[in-house]
Amino acid sequence: MNVGIDKINFFVPPYYIDMVDLAHAREVDPNKFTIGIGQDQMAVSKKTQDIVTFAASAAKEILEPEDLQAIDMVIVGTESGIDESKASAVVLHRLLGVQPFARSFEIKEACYGATAGIQFAKTHIQANPESKVLVIASDIARYGLRSGGEPTQGAGAVAMLLTANPRILTFENDNLMLTQDIYDFWRPLGHAYPMVDGHLSNQVYIDSFKKVWQAHCERNQTSISDYAAISFHIPYTKMGKKALLAVFADEVETEQERVMARYEESIVYSRRIGNLYTGSLYLGLISLLENSSHLSAGDRIGLFSYGSGAVSEFFSGRLVAGYQNQLNKEAHTQLLDQRQKLSIEEYEAIFTDSLEIDQDAAFSDDLPYSIREIKNTIRYYKES
Ligand code: HMG
Repeated sequence: MNVGIDKINFFVPPYYIDMVDLAHAREVDPNKFTIGIGQDQMAVSKKTQDIVTFAASAAKEILEPEDLQAIDMVIVGTESGIDESKASAVVLHRLLGVQPFARSFEIKEACYGATAGIQFAKTHIQANPESKVLVIASDIARYGLRSGGEPTQGAGAVAMLLTANPRILTFENDNLMLTQDIYDFWRPLGHAYPMVDGHLSNQVYIDSFKKVWQAHCERNQTSISDYAAISFHIPYTKMGKKALLAVFADEVETEQERVMARYEESIVYSRRIGNLYTGSLYLGLISLLENSSHLSAGDRIGLFSYGSGAVSEFFSGRLVAGYQNQLNKEAHTQLLDQRQKLSIEEYEAIFTDSLEIDQDAAFSDDLPYSIREIKNTIRYYKES
C-alpha cells in the first residue's frame, strides 16, 4: 500500500530582519551572512507566538472537515516544547477540532523529531489504511543575541497530512537510520538557549550524511542517478551544499550540477526564513516542489534528516501525478512578502521581551492564532 504526504503547508511569523542589517549591527562583512552562511532574511517571533500558534496556523490552512473526522493521530515534532509534561499536540488537537478518538503526542530529538513522527505515522497507516495522521514540525530556533549561532536562527512550522494513496509523495521503504551519541548541540533543562559547538556540528552533519548515503546506496543498490533531487535538513542554506560537495565530489560533473541545481530550488524559502529546526527539511521539500520546473510524476526525491545529538536518516519518496495541485506557491510567496521588516533595535527588543509563565497577563495580537492570556501558568490561545 502506498503511504505518504497528501497535504503540506508551512507558516512563519509575520516579522523578519535583513541579514545585511544584522551584519552591519554586528560589524561583520555582510557577505559572511549572505554568501558564507547563505541567508538573506531571518524570521523573528514575538512572545505572543509559540509552537502551538505556528502549528495551528500551518495546519488550519490544509485541513477540511473530512480530514478532521479521519485524523486519529496528531504528532508534533519539536525541541521548543512549552511544557515538560503535557504535549502541545493535545492543545492542537482541540484548537484544530480533530475528532476525539485520537492519539496525540510530542516527539523530541533535536531537528529529527518530525522525521520520527513521519515514520511512526507511516506504520500506523499501513495497519489502518482509513486513518489520516497529522504530523507537525514546529520550533523557535534561538541561540541568543550576539552569539555565534545568531545568524542561523528562525521560527515557524510545517504541517503534513499523511494518508494512504497520498496526492504528493509516496514513501519508499528504504530508510537508513544512524544514531551517534555526540554533543554537538544540546539544551540542558532550564536553559533558554542551546549549547552548541558550531564547527563540530557542521562536521557531524557532513559525516552523518556521508555514512547514511553510502549505507543507503549499498543496501538499496541505488546511486545518485536514481534521484531527481535530494532535500536536506537546512540549518542555514550553505550547510546542505557543504554536505553535497563533500559527498558527491567524485560524481561526474553533470550529475553534480543537476543535484546542486535542485538543491538551490530547495533553499528558496529557507534563505528568507532561517532554521525551523525540525521543520527545515520539510520546508526545503515544499520549496523544491514549488520552485522546480524539472520534476515530474514518478521522480524519486531523497530526504536527509539530521538532528543534533545525533540522529540522522535518509529515506525517499516518489512524486505522485498531479502533485502540483496540492501545493500553494502563491500563498507561500505572499506570506513571506507581506511580513514586516524589523530594524535590529526592534528585533533586539522583541528578543529580550520574553514570556513570563509564572506571571498572569493578557495580550492582544491581530494574528489568527496567538497567546491571549497567561493564567496560573496556563497559556490560553486566541483562536481564528
Ligand atoms: P562562524 O564561526 O560564525 O562562521 O560559525 P565561520 O567562520 O565558520 O564562517 C562561516 C562561513 O562563512 C565559512 O564558509 C566562511 O568561509 C564564510 P565555509 O568554510 O563554512 O564554507 N565566510 C565568508 N564568505 C564570504 N565572505 C566573507 C566571509 N567570511 C566568512 N566575508 C556556524 C558559523 C554555522 C558554525 C555558526 O553560525 C553556528 O554555530 N550555528 C549554529 C549551529 C549550526 O547551525 N550547525 C549546523 C549543523 S548542526 C544542525 O544542522 C542541527 C541544528 O539544526 C540543531 C538541531 O538538530 O536541533 C543546528
